[in-house]
Amino acid sequence: MTHISSTADIAASDAIRQVGVIGAGQMGTGITQVLAQAGYNVTVLDLNEERLAAAIKAIGRGLDRLVAKGRLAEDAKKEALGRIRTCVEYVTLSDCDLVIEAASEDEAVKRAIFKQLIPVLKPSAIVASNTSSISITRLGSATDRPGKFMGMHFMNPVPVMALVELIRGIATADETYHVVHGVVRRLGKVPVMSDDFPAFIVNRILLPMINEAVYTLYEGVGSVESIDAALRLGANQPMGPLELADFIGLDTCLAIMQVLHDGLADTKYRPCPLLVKYVEAGWLGRKTGRGFYDYSGEKPIATR
Ligand code: CAA
Repeated sequence: MTHISSTADIAASDAIRQVGVIGAGQMGTGITQVLAQAGYNVTVLDLNEERLAAAIKAIGRGLDRLVAKGRLAEDAKKEALGRIRTCVEYVTLSDCDLVIEAASEDEAVKRAIFKQLIPVLKPSAIVASNTSSISITRLGSATDRPGKFMGMHFMNPVPVMALVELIRGIATADETYHVVHGVVRRLGKVPVMSDDFPAFIVNRILLPMINEAVYTLYEGVGSVESIDAALRLGANQPMGPLELADFIGLDTCLAIMQVLHDGLADTKYRPCPLLVKYVEAGWLGRKTGRGFYDYSGEKPIATR
């Protein structure tokens, strides 16, 4: 890869004005917010109109919080909201310079999305995936533009977390990397480059830690509360690992462990049977109201 300074990358990203986001879930909503705040016109696509409406509401609440704290002017909030449009049809993304796919962590779902997206895109458009673990080389090869395809992995909650992992597939062109790097800088975030190996850097390290916390619970070493308190107070983690698992979503945690297990063929990545059972039960964490904690009351209550 050629060396280009961050300033040059920011200039290279000038060509990006209109950005598409696919998926109005937790990640797509946060990504849409930070793009609109940074001045990009954003079109967010989801097949579920209720989810789109909920995303716009959540972004409004997020921006209101910033206004209340004096970090954003009321006018700037209105302008940011005015830069967002929603759609349910892929053809609406035809004017996008960059499209960020933020659908669920399922390769078949992502492939189906690219199949519908590619025919409507401009030839110059870059496609990025917010996948947290799946091979960028393989996803890129499912498009007509592996050179203009790369990983752009945001962290949750997107408006708060400084990092964006950037992942180049084997075919990703230098130009694509520099443009996306520049976009990340314009968002005020810090890009870190990871090679294209299962789960990249953050989740290669974070998810085995969470999986081990579930084993610690499964084997009766500690309760939910004691495991979380131990890591919060003993390792200065902002959230305990089980609380964090609920926050990420237990289905996503399991999907990432399966990618590590399959991709690296090492038994140390074996998903904990208790994690599998929770996902089978539909106890996916905060988003379903129950995971390692029960969120139905005023305060989360540990379930074990
Ligand atoms: N959206 C936007 N802002 C939020 C937010 C949200 N969902 N949740 C909290 N915030 C903001 C608050 O407004 C507050 O802002 P100020 O400091 O400017 O006032 C700030 O974050 C701190 O919030 P709180 O005081 O309410 O709560 P906290 O101190 O407990 O922090 C937290 C909340 C930032 C989420 C913190 O608990 C934390 O950092 N947790 C760990 C998060 C983490 O590890 N994320 C990565 C997950 S892994 C991942 O995303 C990759 C993957 O692929 C799975």
